Amino acid sequence: MTKFDVVIRGGTVSTASETFVADVGIRDGKIVQLGSTLGPGLEEIDAKGHFVLPGGIDSHVHISQPSGDGIVMADNFESGTRSALFGGNTTLMPFCLQQKGQSLRDALTDYHQLADGNCYTDVAFHLIVTDPTEAVIGQELPALVADGYTSLKVFMTYEGMRLNDADILRVMDTSRRTGALVMVHCENEDAIRYLIGLHEAQGNLAPTAHATTRPIVVEREATHRALSLAEVVDVPVVIVHVSNGPAIAEIRAAKARGLKVIGETCPQYLMLTADDLDGMDWEGAKFVCSPPPRDKESQEDCWNGLEQGVFDLFSSDHCPFRYDDPQGKLNPKGKTSFRHIPNGIPGVELRLPILFSEGVIKGRIDLPRFVALTATNHAKVYGLKTKGSIAIGMDADIAIWDPQLRRTVRHADLHDGADYSPYEGLDITGWPVTVLLGGQVMVREGKLVGRKGAGSHRARTARQSTEHRKTA
Ligand code: URP
Ligand code: ZN
Ligand code: ZN
Repeated sequence: MTKFDVVIRGGTVSTASETFVADVGIRDGKIVQLGSTLGPGLEEIDAKGHFVLPGGIDSHVHISQPSGDGIVMADNFESGTRSALFGGNTTLMPFCLQQKGQSLRDALTDYHQLADGNCYTDVAFHLIVTDPTEAVIGQELPALVADGYTSLKVFMTYEGMRLNDADILRVMDTSRRTGALVMVHCENEDAIRYLIGLHEAQGNLAPTAHATTRPIVVEREATHRALSLAEVVDVPVVIVHVSNGPAIAEIRAAKARGLKVIGETCPQYLMLTADDLDGMDWEGAKFVCSPPPRDKESQEDCWNGLEQGVFDLFSSDHCPFRYDDPQGKLNPKGKTSFRHIPNGIPGVELRLPILFSEGVIKGRIDLPRFVALTATNHAKVYGLKTKGSIAIGMDADIAIWDPQLRRTVRHADLHDGADYSPYEGLDITGWPVTVLLGGQVMVREGKLVGRKGAGSHRARTARQSTEHRKTA
């Protein structure tokens, strides 16, 4: 009998539906057998007492994204995917940003150049559409969807990036025809601008004002509008990085009306609040992201959304900037007003440990739900057909977890390119210790053993363009 390349022996395997003790046999990068007494492997990994889970898929990360004004993101593909790998992830979905006046194809060519050969995990790119010209809508998007770039994000906020409702409708319409999936950042930019004006006029310039100028109502209104636009076009939609109860209620109501809506939340909305900035002065910039973390009640609402299935996706929205750096949070303009602080915080390495420790260990969610929220649902929603589960025929992308390992978060122990973690000092129980990508051990017992370039871009297939329609 041919040996397996790798056998992971005696671990507790979990899928999105069940948990069982099994050996996992791997050959040619795929899971080929699950059973109780598998034959020998060229490499044997003892996983007794450990959890054997699908490698995390983080479908919302920003890496090397052009950020304007001399600002540079803290992670490139090398550091971002390495950090993700140590956090138990094997696939990332970063955003390829179309800059105004640029073709999507050119943006992708540039982005591939940054990624190709530099990744420790697999990657699959979403697009960000900021300039939906006739050519983009009529020709580029359909061609790119056919080429495997089957999801795109539009923004209702950020000057220079946001689309108006008419343009969102046009993007949604072409997505409906091509089977692409639209993700929407829901915050009302005009209302935010108005509030920023008020604060600046009163001399409220410090980072604490960031959250005050982006209150729940601006997210709730935009969520309602995005869902309404999707309903008009009759197209599925992903509402990303949801932070609070009223926005969750909008998603619930849209689902009840029959709309196909996928909700996503992130660690910052479970673990941080606006009060974390109290007394921090400019150091509060370390927590500036949009939507901003809210309050205890919103945290509870987000937990309930995860437990009750309003959210299908738990992503990091990793968007790292260094703090003490003229190209980061404290850039020369950033020190003059919260308005110029780049939005986003790091989180790709801690997404899974935080949900495991706070969710599974504390009894809020079970292991299958953890797997669904962090891997399986991402693969299903975004069409990564061979990823996200421990089953025969799937890619052998696997994270082996020590559920009892306790560590306190110190940024010095993380692997991203930022110079801080918003979760510094958090006690976490349960960490991934060994990670395999396509059957290759990449991290063994906490040590990097895989090579840069082992990960590659994965094209996807679009859903049937009529599959999702309520009227179909
Ligand atoms: O503040 C955030 N979330 N920055 C990342 C960009 C985005 O809106 O997702
Ligand atoms: Zn966003
Ligand atoms: Zn984001």
